[in-house]
Amino acid sequence: MKEAEEVIRKVVKDVVPDEELVRKARNAEEKIKIRLNAILKDYPFIEYRFLGSYARNTWLPESLEIDVFLLFPEDFEMQEMENVAIKIGKEVVDSYELRYAAHPYVHGIVSGVEVDIVPCYKLKTAEKIKSAVDRTPFHHEWLKDRIRGKENDVRLLKRFLKVSNLYGAEFKVKGFSGYLCELLIVFYGSFLNLIRNAARWRRNMMLDIKNREVKVVKGLKCIFVADPVDEKRNVAANLSVNNFARFVEKCRLFLRNPSEEFFYPKELVINEAKLKDEIENRFVYAIKFKKPPIVEDNLYTQLEKAERRIKSILERNEVKVLRTHSFANDHCYIIIETLFGKISRIKKHYGPIIENYAD
Ligand code: UTP
Ligand code: MN
Ligand code: MN
Ligand code: MN
Repeated sequence: MKEAEEVIRKVVKDVVPDEELVRKARNAEEKIKIRLNAILKDYPFIEYRFLGSYARNTWLPESLEIDVFLLFPEDFEMQEMENVAIKIGKEVVDSYELRYAAHPYVHGIVSGVEVDIVPCYKLKTAEKIKSAVDRTPFHHEWLKDRIRGKENDVRLLKRFLKVSNLYGAEFKVKGFSGYLCELLIVFYGSFLNLIRNAARWRRNMMLDIKNREVKVVKGLKCIFVADPVDEKRNVAANLSVNNFARFVEKCRLFLRNPSEEFFYPKELVINEAKLKDEIENRFVYAIKFKKPPIVEDNLYTQLEKAERRIKSILERNEVKVLRTHSFANDHCYIIIETLFGKISRIKKHYGPIIENYAD
């Protein structure tokens, strides 16, 4: 059996971007700076900063993306901030699309590199934020020195999670955000030490990152990772209990049998005949419909709501539902598996009680 350390030594070269890619990124960064310096002459009250994984060297080669934040004065009107930020964003990038998070923002390409240009407020403390993005500058300040020397551990973790579809806090994934990954590496010191500890995680744990403490909190439904810049906030708030468990199990499997496979996406081999056979012998139903033009996070919230609703209607009608699932590409799909395919023709109907008598 291979040692975990040996596996990591081998894999690390594939999670670190090579020189050529770094050069491409730096080139784009320079272009962005030149353009922003020119544009912001007309907006001297706006500052820009490079934040996120690019600024901290914790990005994965397969997902290079430069996050640029436009910092607005606190008293700037929000709608106006969004308009101005989009206008500036469009001028900075070669080609763009609008995306939506706390505010609409510009996602685009500069010299072949993906760029996010996101507006936020420049505040004095992270406790008085107007929307979630306003914390980002504080996150960067907190992390930038602490993460130094541990960048590749973050990359290993991100890749380890990605391969199991556990990377990303968006609704579609309900996994670990980039920021959460970096905090975990700071807290445990290294990738391997995190894995060793996470193998024993319990869902009622609270990691107090700032005070370097683990506490057990009665009644906690899933792990709570206190944001060092705003301790009431759970950085792992979007992690589902299921994905928490899947991660813990992955850690155990890796420690039991360390292998490079944990860091490379498996090629999905689908045996169509076997799949068909399986489906035909079970009770699996799918509802397919056109995707409505709404933001992805909202779409997934709605799909999940629909799943729950369908399940409850079916169960009210004596149909036992095993599981439901949904996903979207250019269409939406809701998949339902039931325990049986037919219900009895007979149903018990409760009438009014005997005392109800109206003549
Ligand atoms: P990213 O999603 O780009 O994450 O958000 P990341 O840490 O750079 O990781 P990768 O490597 O790209 O996957 C960058 C920062 O922007 C803020 C978050 O605070 C995050 O740390 N952000 C981003 C939001 O607040 N909301 C968003 O919708 C997106
Ligand atoms: Mn990023
Ligand atoms: Mn991107
Ligand atoms: Mn981004």
